[in-house]
Amino acid sequence: MIAGDLTASGFHRSTWAGLYAARAEIFEMADDELILITGATGFLGMQLVRELLDRYPRTRLALLVRNRAGQTGEQRVHAFLPETHRARVQAVSGDVSHPGCGLDETTRRRLQAEVTRVIHSAATVRFDHSLEEARRINVEGTRHLLDFAGGVRQLRSFAYVGTAYVAGERTDLVREDELAIGQTYRNTYEQTKAEAEALVRSRLASMPGVILRPSIIVGDSRTGVTSSFKMMYWPLKIYARGLWRTVPGYPDAVLDIVPVDFVARAVAQLLFDPAALGSTVHLCAGPQGSATIDQIALRARQYFHGPAPRYVDPRFFFAIMRPLLFMALWGRKRSVLRDGRAYRDYFSMRMQFDTGNAQRLLQPAGLAPPPVLDYLDRLFNYCVASEWGRKPVSAP
Ligand SMILES: NC(=O)c1ccc[n+]([C@@H]2O[C@H](COP(=O)([O-])OP(=O)(O)OC[C@H]3O[C@@H](n4cnc5c(N)ncnc54)[C@H](OP(=O)(O)O)[C@@H]3O)[C@@H](O)[C@H]2O)c1
Repeated sequence: MIAGDLTASGFHRSTWAGLYAARAEIFEMADDELILITGATGFLGMQLVRELLDRYPRTRLALLVRNRAGQTGEQRVHAFLPETHRARVQAVSGDVSHPGCGLDETTRRRLQAEVTRVIHSAATVRFDHSLEEARRINVEGTRHLLDFAGGVRQLRSFAYVGTAYVAGERTDLVREDELAIGQTYRNTYEQTKAEAEALVRSRLASMPGVILRPSIIVGDSRTGVTSSFKMMYWPLKIYARGLWRTVPGYPDAVLDIVPVDFVARAVAQLLFDPAALGSTVHLCAGPQGSATIDQIALRARQYFHGPAPRYVDPRFFFAIMRPLLFMALWGRKRSVLRDGRAYRDYFSMRMQFDTGNAQRLLQPAGLAPPPVLDYLDRLFNYCVASEWGRKPVSAP
């Protein structure tokens, strides 16, 4: 079922070709729209909300947020949204993993009458969920959003935030129109995001929409600010603290990272671009802008004044060294070995992401991802100032 879905693209780009001429007109209509957003409390979602409010001054947002930790969705939204913006933002309590997104009937009907665009960014990004749990949120959650969008009376676009890592364990150049070509996946996150994207593709035959695939999202390229210290940050932190210098990977492995400000701008741009409808777009640094593990390690070494990293073949490390070290080490170094498992394959990737669609659609708007090495020091500055997320830092 899944494999069959994955190979069926179902795209009908020509269906939307007639809309290209109306491009300017539709950009203008951004003023009187209501955009439903999921995942607004997340790392990307928060930046996206700010970007949309700043960029489209008369657009209103409806944020679908789940009740959590004794707070309603509305209270959670008020906690991060400046008061000046609240008149343009409504919070609705919901949960994408529930049928109907957990919306009560009246709210669902009202939203389906008023919403004009949908951005589905909610997902679990954990690598260690069971397949069942990851599917419940990432696949069923996407299905529920698509069902909701199918009932929206004046839907102009549905933007699905996927991930470039639906490419799984491929080692070649990944094109934007490719999804399942028989690759295997490193974890349940990659697999369920691929399954969810297949579902979106099958629905986009009859619904105006675009699939956006960021690579690894890091902090703001101008300020370094981030609320997420996962992925690239974790190995950097243990290196900066002098806890570890062995890299189970290859110095020439490729790390494709993109700053959150670029991703938010690109999503806000493409949501309103009729030329993007029916496309899949890599929001990635691409072959020109990405860096190798060794280039990043060199910059980290210069910045944190640490020792040269020691590269070990990952197959040898995980089959022989790690089990032995696990028995020999204790305390923080043992925790590092345990926690690092989730990231094991990200130091040995050789795949690259083609960005042809991204360039075609974003360059006319003056948008391009900055090369990783251009803003890396700003990310480091913020890590140090915020003590890797433990200390609040006032906005630069
Ligand atoms: N971060 C990256 O490096 C990266 C890279 C490529 C693609 N992406 C994609 O970008 C999107 C956003 O990722 P992120 O890094 O911002 O993740 P994040 O910080 O973990 O945020 C996830 C968001 O999804 C919401 N959510 C999760 N389960 C939900 C549910 N059942 N119902 C309603 N909302 C739910 C979370 O709400 P709560 O606050 O209630 O938990 C949160 O707002 C995801 O689709 C992810 O796959 C991320």
